[in-house]
Amino acid sequence: MNMNKTALVCGAGGFIGSHLVKRLKSEGFWVRGVDIKEVEFGKTEADDFVIGDLRDPSFCKKVIDIPFDELYQLAADMGGAGFVFTGENDADIMHNSCLINLNVLEASYFSDVKNIFYSGSACMYPEYNQMDPDNPKCSEDSAYPAAPDSEYGWEKLFSERLYLSFGRNYGLNVHIARYHNIFGPEGTWKDGREKAPAALCRKVIMAEEGGSIEVWGDGKQTRSFLYIDECIEGTLRLMRSNFTGPVNIGSDEMVTINQLAEMIIGLSGKNISVKNIPGPEGVRGRNSDNLLINEKLDWAPSSKLIDGLGETYSWIKEQVDTKAESVVLPDISLENAKRLLKEASNSDTNKNFLAQHS
Ligand code: NAD
Ligand code: GDD
Repeated sequence: MNMNKTALVCGAGGFIGSHLVKRLKSEGFWVRGVDIKEVEFGKTEADDFVIGDLRDPSFCKKVIDIPFDELYQLAADMGGAGFVFTGENDADIMHNSCLINLNVLEASYFSDVKNIFYSGSACMYPEYNQMDPDNPKCSEDSAYPAAPDSEYGWEKLFSERLYLSFGRNYGLNVHIARYHNIFGPEGTWKDGREKAPAALCRKVIMAEEGGSIEVWGDGKQTRSFLYIDECIEGTLRLMRSNFTGPVNIGSDEMVTINQLAEMIIGLSGKNISVKNIPGPEGVRGRNSDNLLINEKLDWAPSSKLIDGLGETYSWIKEQVDTKAESVVLPDISLENAKRLLKEASNSDTNKNFLAQHS
């Protein structure tokens, strides 16, 4: 048990963050979670959960007030293809996530945080290496010349360099992952930010027997999907290693999106056809290259896509069947920021926390 160890999870109300909090608690850590919203599904297991805006430097300093043994920076303005590849959210994505990362790093430096993990993304890889759906190249050393296909990818690339700079110039012990499409239960599934596995599970569950589901693009684009448990395992292994990264944390079981849809249809046992329609697509092909993670951590993800899909399908079916409403993610655009901050500062949890820390 690690009763004396402390961890801070930024983005603890989100998908990966809420799973990570559970894992850290099971290991005996004292955990503080921070987010601009409550956990979307269920209740947090964090010892202390503070609601606030990490774009605000003074709030960041208040929550990063001790030399945490482990700080996980997962907060970002993010989503699946329908959110990051339409171009409509580019300014907020870049502005919000950059501010969070700048603030978290500065506060971590002042509080002598011992280890910092940053969740980068495979979206930073150059588009020119991901044109052939059957042979995408995503080895860590293929990042340059840089040419991500989205502003989300550019922000992730900038921020991983920011973390590396703080490591070099200020001695922070940073660990950087490039996550490849993470999925599983308790991930967002219907608010416009959902990724393909959750979106296609929902569509199949809601389709009538003999009907069809809409799948964006020609369905021949490829991806790999990593189940949440292995994402958390890889994250902890990287954090507790001597390796800085960046390193891919992803599955290397590549499928076309239509194959993904067929796998989910198979799980449903329904007779459903796939209708490919135009939609935001992103790169033509992507797969995790796991040579480096194997070499540096002596470990790589190995679970089968179909197993994780089964778990995810059952969970989303439960949500649909019980008509459980997911909390709609707040609009965290600049326009909405003032209202959110006012609400957060009026909550009892926050009043208590801020009173103790002012
Ligand atoms: P998520 O959206 O579920 O979680 C991110 C959390 O950050 C949300 O709960 C959100 O409310 C919070 N947040 C956003 N702005 C904030 C602010 N100003 N102050 C405080 N909290 C704020 O996303 P996730 O899937 O859990 O992803 C976690 C991290 O991993 C993100 O940085 C994401 O970019 C990265 N990543 C995820 C994937 C994936 O497939 N899930 C892939 C690549 C990278
Ligand atoms: N979301 C979604 N919804 N995608 C669909 C759908 C649908 O109904 N139908 C087909 N797709 C296709 C998309 O067009 C895209 O080509 C592919 O499925 C995968 O989409 P996503 O899962 O939404 O995202 P991604 O893999 O392109 O990018 C995600 O992974 C990155 C890391 O690898 C995003 O979540 C990024 O934010 C993340 O960094």
